[in-house]
Amino acid sequence: MKEQLLQKWHLHFGASSPEVIVRAPGRVNFIGEHTDYNEGWVLPGAMSRSVYILVSKNEKDGHRWVAGDLNEEYVYDAATDLPLWGKYVEGTIQLYAPQTGPLKILISGDLPVGAGVSSSSSLVCGLLYALQKITGGKETKDDLALFGSRVEREIIGLQGGIMDQFAIMLSRKNHVMMLDCRTREYKFISADLPGCKWVLINTKVKHKLIDSDYNNRADECLRAVGIIKRLYPKVETLRDVTMDMLSEIHLPELLRKRSLFIVEENDRVHKMVDALKKKDPKKAGSLLKASHAGLRDQYEVSCAELDHLAAVANKYKGAYGARMMGGGFGGCVLCLVKEEEMEEFLEECSVSYFEKFGFDPEVILFDLGNGVEYV
Ligand code: GLA
Repeated sequence: MKEQLLQKWHLHFGASSPEVIVRAPGRVNFIGEHTDYNEGWVLPGAMSRSVYILVSKNEKDGHRWVAGDLNEEYVYDAATDLPLWGKYVEGTIQLYAPQTGPLKILISGDLPVGAGVSSSSSLVCGLLYALQKITGGKETKDDLALFGSRVEREIIGLQGGIMDQFAIMLSRKNHVMMLDCRTREYKFISADLPGCKWVLINTKVKHKLIDSDYNNRADECLRAVGIIKRLYPKVETLRDVTMDMLSEIHLPELLRKRSLFIVEENDRVHKMVDALKKKDPKKAGSLLKASHAGLRDQYEVSCAELDHLAAVANKYKGAYGARMMGGGFGGCVLCLVKEEEMEEFLEECSVSYFEKFGFDPEVILFDLGNGVEYV
C-alpha cells in the first residue's frame, strides 16, 4: 500500500517525500445508532479498510489538495467553490491549525464513500493526526476526536455526536469500543463470536447526511427532552429518560416514537455487550433485528434498499441477525452470519437484491483494526 501511495504522491507533487502518512480507518457500529448525540452509549469499532492521508508543508506553491481516487486536484484559495471533501479539509485546517502555512495533501484509500462507514470523519481524523505531527501539537487522541466532531458540527453543520471520531481515533484491533457519549469513558470488548463472522453489505444507495433528515432527528430529540423536562427537570438528554417516564408523559406521537427508540437502543447497547461477553450469537442477532425494526419504524431513518437487505438477511437460516448501520437513508447493512454459511448467504442476498432493484449490492468483508496510526 505504501508504495502505491508514494507513487501517487510523486505523480502529483514530484520527487520530494511527504512529511507524514496517516492511516485512518472507517468505522463500523455494532449497535447504538443515533444514541451518540443523545449522550447515550454506542458500540463501534474500526475497520481494516481505511483512508490514507499524506501531507507536507508547501510554503512555495500554496495549498494543493488531491483526492487521488476521484482524480480531483485543487489549488486552493478561499474563494474556490470546494466539493464536500475539500470543505472537510478546509474546516479541519481552520479549526485545528489556522496558522499552518500552505500544505500539499494527498487523500487516497479503499474506504467506500457514502456507505455509512464514516469516510468523512476518517478524512477529518486522519488529517488532524497528520496536522498534529506537522505542528508538534500535544493533544491526546481523545482531544483530537473532539476536534473532529467540532468540524462536523461547526463547519459542516451536521448535529452529529462523537461516536465516529472516537472509534476512528482510538479503536483496538479485534475489539469494539463501548463508549459512554456523556462521560466519554470507554472500554474495549472482544467482538469474536465462535463460528460467526460479521459482514457489511452496501446498498450502494449513497447518502449525504447533511442533505438528509439527520438534523431533523436531532431536533426532534431535543423537542422531546423539552417536554419531558417539565415533569422531570433533571432530564438533560434522552439518555436520562426511562421507559417509566415515557409511559407517564404525554408526548406527541412522533416524539414518542423517536424517544422510545433512543431509550430502547441505549438498552440494547448494554445487552449487546453482555451477549458478546457471554459469546451468545443468538442474543446478539436478536438485538440486531430489534435495532433494525426500531430504526425503520420508530426512528424512520431506513430506506427500501436497506429494509430489503435486512429482511432477506433476517429470514436466512444461517444468519443470526442484521440491521442497517450508521446515520441511515442508504449505506450498509451489518450482518452476523455463521461462518460456514457465509458464501451462500451472500449469494442469496445479492441475487434477491439484484432482482428487486436491478443492480448488485457490494459485499464488504472487514476485520476490526486499530485506530489512526502513522504509516
Ligand atoms: C453518523 C454520525 C454519528 C452517529 C451516526 C448514527 O455516522 O456521524 O455521530 O450519530 O450517524 O448513529
